[in-house]
Amino acid sequence: MFDLIILGGGPAGYNAAERAGSAGLNTLLIEKRALGGVCLNEGCIPSKTLLYSAKLYSHALHSEKYGVYTEGARIDHAAVIARKDRTVKTLTSGIAASMKAHKVNVVYGEARILGRAEGGFEVAVGEEKHIGAKLLICTGSEALVPPIEGLRDSVAAGFALTNREILALTELPEKLCVIGGGVIGLEMASYFNSVGTKVTVVEMMDRIAGQTDIDISNLLKDIYTAKGVDFRLGAKVVSVGSGAVVYEKDGEKVTVEADKVLVSIGRRANTAGIGLENIGVLTERGAIVTDEQMKTNVPGVFAAGDVNGKSMLAHTAYREGEVAVNTMIGVRDRMDYSAVPAVIYTDPEAASVGETEETAKKKGIDIVVKKLPMSYSGRYLAENEGGKGICKVILSKEGNRLLGVSMLANPAGEIITAATAMIGREFRAADVQKVIFPHPTVAEVIRESVF
Ligand code: NAI
Repeated sequence: MFDLIILGGGPAGYNAAERAGSAGLNTLLIEKRALGGVCLNEGCIPSKTLLYSAKLYSHALHSEKYGVYTEGARIDHAAVIARKDRTVKTLTSGIAASMKAHKVNVVYGEARILGRAEGGFEVAVGEEKHIGAKLLICTGSEALVPPIEGLRDSVAAGFALTNREILALTELPEKLCVIGGGVIGLEMASYFNSVGTKVTVVEMMDRIAGQTDIDISNLLKDIYTAKGVDFRLGAKVVSVGSGAVVYEKDGEKVTVEADKVLVSIGRRANTAGIGLENIGVLTERGAIVTDEQMKTNVPGVFAAGDVNGKSMLAHTAYREGEVAVNTMIGVRDRMDYSAVPAVIYTDPEAASVGETEETAKKKGIDIVVKKLPMSYSGRYLAENEGGKGICKVILSKEGNRLLGVSMLANPAGEIITAATAMIGREFRAADVQKVIFPHPTVAEVIRESVF
């Protein structure tokens, strides 16, 4: 009998397990594949490891404008993958050690909720059965593979890949067709373009990078077009197979030849096969319905991370796991989705938090938009010869409150934390102006932008 059984050891699950362990809850964590989940094993961390190698290589190739000559620079993709594997191993062993340190019991296998039992809920892992007074479901998400003609067969044959397989490729394809110009599509397009693969991105919408600010989306597209990525927008894929992707645009069919295809058109929550129906957990469009304390409709059952379909980001998952455990142990807490930062780790990085011009206008908020080129920062200029980054700040007209920040620049993914804190703390322009930013830094542009 456990106080808490957690299904899934990704960012939501392992972070919640640590919290629960330190709070003294007798906790069981069940993981079917590897601790760390998608993020650590086949998502965030592996991709960032690859992208860092690509960035170094690209800097070496273009170092002359900084007066540095690096003849003979080359990239060894197999070595990059080997380093990625080592990095992942270091981190996953770290989580295993942390589970031990927090006295969390870890069982490997597929968990299935069997039903209610005296004192809680019964969960099976293979032949074993466990009872938990409370359940926290953190089973994550998987790549969406829609019923496009030939796509599922292409995945089975290894011609089409999801995030999982592409991060394990040991040989570089000559031609890669990326279906979906969202976060995964762009990060992978960025890596493979940097290492010399011919990349075509086929995107259904007429823009890339989904909800990203439109100016940043357009700029990112121009930057990557100049680097050689071929974007086909407003293009609906109709079939995949035999070394090609066929899409339809304006009533015409167009064929893109490829050695490999990446399917990155979104993810779906892993709610099937875990026995939710046995205790009556409510789902909506395939994701578990949760409130702001991560409670499901069943008292004692919580869900955090991608499985609730709210934000599908590792950092949201961490926080949701924490909120769930706090709620269980009686610490007042609630999830606030108004300041969740998002980063696309292209080169340059695109990062944003809060409202964009479009989302604010859609909500009917009266706003003031401030836009500055990143060249306002001396450090940015020093380090980004010919860089085209921008910073966009959204303020409410009434009260001059900071509602959103979007940036395209390196290292926007790091800087955005400052904006996240300011928005979370409901800063007004005057409050931002009083913050002392170190000089010279790229982050200073945020302060400049609100004037
Ligand atoms: P996404 O939702 O970011 O992008 C999917 C794209 O595919 C959209 O632009 C959509 O219009 C397009 N699309 C959908 N159906 C299509 C079709 N049939 N043909 C052509 N295009 C089509 O999804 P993605 O990139 O797969 O990422 C999945 C999740 O993982 C996201 O929720 C994302 O936030 C998360 N993620 C976050 C990362 C980060 O924070 N840096 C990195 C990677 C993933």
